[in-house]
Amino acid sequence: MKTRYFLTSVEKMTKADIQRVMEIELASFSAPWSKKMFLSELADAPFSLSYVARERQSCRIVGYIIFRIVFDDLSVMNLAVDPAYRKQGIGGELIRFAMRIGQASGARKATLEVRATNLVAQNLYRKFGFREVGCRPNYYDRPTEHALVFEYGVDCVL
Ligand SMILES: CC(C)(COP(=O)(O)OP(=O)(O)OC[C@H]1O[C@@H](n2cnc3c(N)ncnc32)[C@H](O)[C@@H]1OP(=O)(O)O)[C@@H](O)C(=O)NCCC(=O)NCCS
Repeated sequence: MKTRYFLTSVEKMTKADIQRVMEIELASFSAPWSKKMFLSELADAPFSLSYVARERQSCRIVGYIIFRIVFDDLSVMNLAVDPAYRKQGIGGELIRFAMRIGQASGARKATLEVRATNLVAQNLYRKFGFREVGCRPNYYDRPTEHALVFEYGVDCVL
């Protein structure tokens, strides 16, 4: 079913959301962010923008995206969806949401790094118009792995 995301709303992340966000983070990454890292992104506003996707009916947080906009550059810092809610369009909605904020804020391009073996995320980014523009050898640890750099022209129509 591809319509689930219509049941979610995207809202600014607050400190009160961090516990639930951490549950999703721990379920999603082999080298997860710490609570402190999330708190520091929240404190870095306005450059850092953190949003959660909530299931409308339950208000349960089912995903989140963190990105930074510095002048005309948007960088996606983190993105995850609760494993129980994946493949229903929520990750795509969060990316689309961030690109729209980027457009509205005057960003000209968006970049992100993704693990070379994370084909699911690479598919998502390609689907939304990102293209691979580089590689950072051994960028990640736990496990050590290359990062692929993806870029998106924010002027593109979403
Ligand atoms: C990557 C992630 C955010 C995708 O979230 P999602 O809500 O499942 O994504 P969507 O349902 O919006 O899927 C959008 C596209 O992503 C790709 N995709 C999603 N799940 C996939 C899967 N299991 N296999 C292959 N491609 C997949 C497809 O291209 C899909 O489009 P389609 O449904 O038309 O085929 C989610 O899998 C996740 O949280 N993964 C762990 C954390 C992570 O890797 N974050 C990214 C770090 S760079």
